[in-house]
Amino acid sequence: PVKVSKICCIGAGYVGGPTCAVVALRCPHIQVTIVDLNQARIDAWNSPDFNLPIYEPGLVEVVKQARGRNLFFSTNVDKAILEADLIFVSVNTPTKKSGVGAGFAADLNYVESATRRIAAIATSNKIVVEKSTVPCRTAESMRTILEANSKPGTRFDILSNPEFLAEGTAIADLFKPDRVLIGSLQTQEGRDACQSLAEVYANWVPRERILTVGLWSSELSKLAANAMLAQRISSVNALSAICEATGANIDEVAHAVGFDSRIGPKFLRASVGFGGSCFQKDILNLVYLSESLHLPQVAAYWRQVVEMNEYQKSRFSKTVVDTLFNTITGKHIAVLGFAFKADTGDTRESAAISLIRDFLSERAYVTIYDPKVEEAQIWLDLSEAIPGTPLETIKKYVTIVHSALEACKQKEAIVIATEWKEFKEIDWQTVYNQMSKPAFVFDGRMILKADELQKIGFKVKVIGRGDGQ
Ligand code: NAI
Repeated sequence: PVKVSKICCIGAGYVGGPTCAVVALRCPHIQVTIVDLNQARIDAWNSPDFNLPIYEPGLVEVVKQARGRNLFFSTNVDKAILEADLIFVSVNTPTKKSGVGAGFAADLNYVESATRRIAAIATSNKIVVEKSTVPCRTAESMRTILEANSKPGTRFDILSNPEFLAEGTAIADLFKPDRVLIGSLQTQEGRDACQSLAEVYANWVPRERILTVGLWSSELSKLAANAMLAQRISSVNALSAICEATGANIDEVAHAVGFDSRIGPKFLRASVGFGGSCFQKDILNLVYLSESLHLPQVAAYWRQVVEMNEYQKSRFSKTVVDTLFNTITGKHIAVLGFAFKADTGDTRESAAISLIRDFLSERAYVTIYDPKVEEAQIWLDLSEAIPGTPLETIKKYVTIVHSALEACKQKEAIVIATEWKEFKEIDWQTVYNQMSKPAFVFDGRMILKADELQKIGFKVKVIGRGDGQ
């Protein structure tokens, strides 16, 4: 097997950036260059004051230690390809918006153009690693493209190495992964390439956590893991609807259920719904795959996980309207949190966007506060969520502020959309004093102490809890 000394990572996003920064930190003997076509993103990665393009706890510290030592960020894609012996392809694979499979299939345009670039530039053997989440058998297409365009004497070995990090805990996950999965062709060359990559991870990951499997199993495992994680959330959310109707408490139910060692306690929290760039996209991808394989029952089964999530979001909006005496027109609502989860500035598919869109469709006034999301991002997301409405009109109804206290002032209702820790520590008495009465709180993340808020005087609605609890 080749001993890897130079790595190139194509795509400096939420995955490529943190993943390869940690590779560089843990492997000082390997030169790691992360490249992207997006100049602004690369400039941010290189910024002297470490104003990085993404927020992850612990990321700045990693970049501080490795940048300029053996970690580099560049827009010179060709040079990095030329020099590397191993190339991670970590570009985005969003759901297709038009054409065949629109709304379900993954858009592989970025993967393909990165692959074609590798084929055009490479003059020596390369191990090409699929890091992006892709549909089953994408590695096969990559291999065909590489082989059809390669120069004589240049070998390409393709590996699948999906990334399991979760945003918000990316650095901790990368330091101590549950597992690293590497898929390869089961040929001698395939196994050798697999070993070369395993050696890189073995610098900090225990051997028994590095799993090596076939290419297709590896690709499918990533979709399967995300589908099953999202399914857990949709299951608990489906139960939360029953709790609200019966007076049971989803916290107690989840706690009791999670005690079963076969189920386990983690990832059983009811909420306003899952968001993020991956769960929905990867399930839809699995649905599309199932349909292409003529497995309609399998497709319907997984599609229901996404439908339950949509239902949960709209059910929550409806609770807000119903509770505020069946109309929120002209009312003022504070939305605390805009990111799709705590400890990230990422807003892709955030539940907050759906809620605010619903509130605006009722012509309510919305004031938003999030500790990490940039104002420009919020405007962009809202314009995209409400097509056909000019931003000026949206701005008449929406205000963005810089603290939770400011957001809540003189509002009729507060909606917790993201589980930021600081929302637990708000001075709720002060908030109450400054609100219009009756003052409502809708906890979409189950992070507040409802009984204490009720003592202050708030009317509180919590996901998965019937009235009177
Ligand atoms: P992202 O959109 O943050 O980053 C992708 C980057 O690739 C962008 O900066 C884009 O400019 C760049 N890019 C696209 N085509 C390029 C090309 N031909 N040459 C150079 N650069 C190019 O996406 P993110 O979130 O990092 O996701 C990447 C992949 O990882 C996706 O397939 C995603 O499903 C997967 N993934 C994402 C996770 C997450 O938490 N965000 C977790 C695990 C996997």
